[in-house]
Amino acid sequence: MIKVAPSILSADFSNLLNEVKKVEAAGADFLHLDIMDGHFVPNLTFGPVVLKSLLGKTDLGFDVHLMVNNPRKFIDYFLPLRPSYITFHVEAEKDIDRVISQIKKLGIKAGLSINPGTPVDSLFKYLEKINLVLIMTVNPGFAGQKFMPEILPKIKELRKEIESRKLNLDIEVDGGIDSNNVRLVKEAGANIIVAGSAIFGSSDIASTIATLKAK
Ligand code: DX5
Ligand code: ZN
Repeated sequence: MIKVAPSILSADFSNLLNEVKKVEAAGADFLHLDIMDGHFVPNLTFGPVVLKSLLGKTDLGFDVHLMVNNPRKFIDYFLPLRPSYITFHVEAEKDIDRVISQIKKLGIKAGLSINPGTPVDSLFKYLEKINLVLIMTVNPGFAGQKFMPEILPKIKELRKEIESRKLNLDIEVDGGIDSNNVRLVKEAGANIIVAGSAIFGSSDIASTIATLKAK
């Protein structure tokens, strides 16, 4: 089952709740929330206050993608929002095990993400402890960048590793994904598709989401 998580980074923030309702009605599975701190990535976005304003107004689970240095300092702001997933970057944290338990102690699913330049085996030792791996297919920081096909072998290698260890783990992909290249990431083994510009820039969001999900 392929799931789709629209990134609200490409939504019209002057009309945020409407935008969320639109993707919900169009068949989205999660809301992908890109939290940027201006340090780990060269951009700033929004924080827990914005997420809180959406709480109780949508049935979509929150898929929080932390692009921040020292995520352990911020996890506690997100826990009360009861997100479906909180994902942080291996490049941004020294004590990865500690942050994983910080997230999981309240029954929230923990994800680990890697940038395009980070080898996939750097997170192999955590696979037993986490629920999701988020493989970046662009350098994080901005919506609307070009998909990097050279990342596909990392997705395949991870899927193989997960299968050989018989683990139940989501592989999410994020960055530059659209109706034209989505087949490649699905064939490589991804099962959660993040898309920002392809969804919010579409004139027929329901059909775009259906295409992203199609086998
Ligand atoms: C990039 C973010 C992505 C991004 C996706 O740093 O993590 O979630 O908003 O947007 P598109 O699909 O436009 O690349
Ligand atoms: Zn993201």
